[in-house]
Amino acid sequence: MTKIIAPSILSADFSKLGDEIRAVEAAGAGWIHLDIMDGHFVPNLTMGPALTKCVRPVTKLPFDAHLMVERPAEFVEAFAKAGVDYISIHCESDNPNETIAAIREYKAKPGIVVNPPTDVKETYQYLDKVDYVLVMTVNPGFSGQKLIESSAAKIDVLKEYREKNNLNYLIQVDGGVNLETIDRVKNADVFVAASAIFGKDDYSKAIADLKSHL
Ligand code: DX5
Ligand code: ZN
Repeated sequence: MTKIIAPSILSADFSKLGDEIRAVEAAGAGWIHLDIMDGHFVPNLTMGPALTKCVRPVTKLPFDAHLMVERPAEFVEAFAKAGVDYISIHCESDNPNETIAAIREYKAKPGIVVNPPTDVKETYQYLDKVDYVLVMTVNPGFSGQKLIESSAAKIDVLKEYREKNNLNYLIQVDGGVNLETIDRVKNADVFVAASAIFGKDDYSKAIADLKSHL
């Protein structure tokens, strides 16, 4: 399986967001990761469907919206209409089954997310219904945090579970992924990174360096 680097625009310069997205596309990004936070589900506020729609035309890369909001089902239509291709929702959010069905209805690809304190087994009931599972390796809310080692172990569990049960979801990892930690999470398929890419001057080098470990 080809490994995908998904820069999170949370650490981009919002004053020139279109240029930042074009730059990471040229630098070898595979998906663009959008961290959607509502100030309730997580202690931070970020972006919504209006901003997403504005930057959609600047790239052909898939948009991956990671919904860290209390009632994600209420926002699926707006993000799908803004041109998002992948939408992930937390297994800790309200009624994930209903939201997954809504994501399919709007022709986007659903993902299920698991937070560090949550048992990975909580995701099992969704794994035959989603295109990807996102393992959080930090408590969501902010970029630039340190990877939690015990959460990284969930990636290996989900890889084994996929083989055993003949499933084909992608495994995504998000939080604290950088040159020092990527070896620990290399069994994932999609690697989200905010500060390890947008925090560097040379995005091509940053992405190539991460890929060189995979
Ligand atoms: C955390 C977000 C992540 C975050 C990653 O709440 O879901 O996508 O932006 O940031 P880094 O890569 O800097 O840990
Ligand atoms: Zn994220």
